[in-house]
Amino acid sequence: MAIIQAAILGFGTVGQGIYQILNERKVQLKQSLGLDIEVKAILIRDLAKNRIATPGVLVTDSFQEIEAIPGIQVVFEAIVGEEPAFDYLSRAIQKGCHVITANKVMFSKYGLQLEEQAKVKGVHIGYEATTAAGVPIIKTLKNLLQVNQVHKIQGILNGTSNYMLTQMRIQQCLFLDALQEAKLLGYAEADPYNDISGQDAFRKLMILSTLAFGKQPEWQDVEVEGITNITLEEVQNASSRGMRFKQIAEISQEVDGSLHAFVRLKLVGQEHPLYAIEGVDNAISLDTNYIGTLTLTGPGAGKFPTASVMVEDYADIIRKHTQFLVTL
Ligand code: NAP
Ligand code: HSE
Repeated sequence: MAIIQAAILGFGTVGQGIYQILNERKVQLKQSLGLDIEVKAILIRDLAKNRIATPGVLVTDSFQEIEAIPGIQVVFEAIVGEEPAFDYLSRAIQKGCHVITANKVMFSKYGLQLEEQAKVKGVHIGYEATTAAGVPIIKTLKNLLQVNQVHKIQGILNGTSNYMLTQMRIQQCLFLDALQEAKLLGYAEADPYNDISGQDAFRKLMILSTLAFGKQPEWQDVEVEGITNITLEEVQNASSRGMRFKQIAEISQEVDGSLHAFVRLKLVGQEHPLYAIEGVDNAISLDTNYIGTLTLTGPGAGKFPTASVMVEDYADIIRKHTQFLVTL
């Protein structure tokens, strides 16, 4: 049986999750795809860190070393920030690899460019994990956009913020204690600035904007509010009045085609559709012309929700690609 050779860039929360799921689901993936997968190499930054065992796999801090391995066909990317992630994925695509990314900071800026490069090279990009982790918003949007138009997207797009606001209300945690918990659970980034400043939700909103509207608003025109100024007292006060703070990301298209977007901290009551979205869950409501309003909800961060949608992307890509080859 043929074997797909893969590399994983980044071996933190998400990268290790991908490796674990590929091993745990090896037999099932082999049966359903008719192909085995072997992780040949893993890219990290700090060779001295303790990690799970990966027997037989090259673990390196040099991307060039991975590039030099002949026959790699799939690259999973779970590193942090715009660069060097964009550079590495461009190079992987140029070599004819399919790429699957969780990196929303990179993809919100370079997604279109990568898609163009991938089209030229006849390879695929999976990016379900960039937005709302375990919630299948990207595949759902792609599917419904074949027939529907989307007018408005509204949601909770950052798991860390929603988890913290929930813990502050229910457990009476202080802001920094709630953040520490979110870090330990693998929800918050190693540098949580983007999580708590609203930038993470903003980047995800921009990815949804590109997909739904084919463009993004000017970034500097988008108001972005985080949860950094919120205190335990404010959360508790609101709660005693039956209200909850929710960080809401929204984008809508006006009749003239222009886009209006914001990420705001809002105080909502029980009647609000996002009131009941708690903990690390995200939710996304899509207003469409034929379906009406569709809402998806589920875990918006975490090792296995994120890694599992990346492995789903892998399976979809291999299935699509091998069908294409058979058709040829
Ligand atoms: P993480 O635990 O901090 O892991 C990041 C990994 O990337 C580490 O192994 C790190 O190496 C490696 N790395 C970072 N910069 C690198 C560079 N320049 N060259 C080589 N390796 C580099 O982060 P994570 O939570 O797994 O997240 C990974 C990506 O997925 C991020 O883009 C994040 O936004 C996205 N994401 C995360 C979640 C989640 O729930 N955690 C969900 C969806 C998307 P060292 O280990 O040597 O430091
Ligand atoms: N840090 C991100 C969050 C991970 O909390 O939503 C998922 O993208």
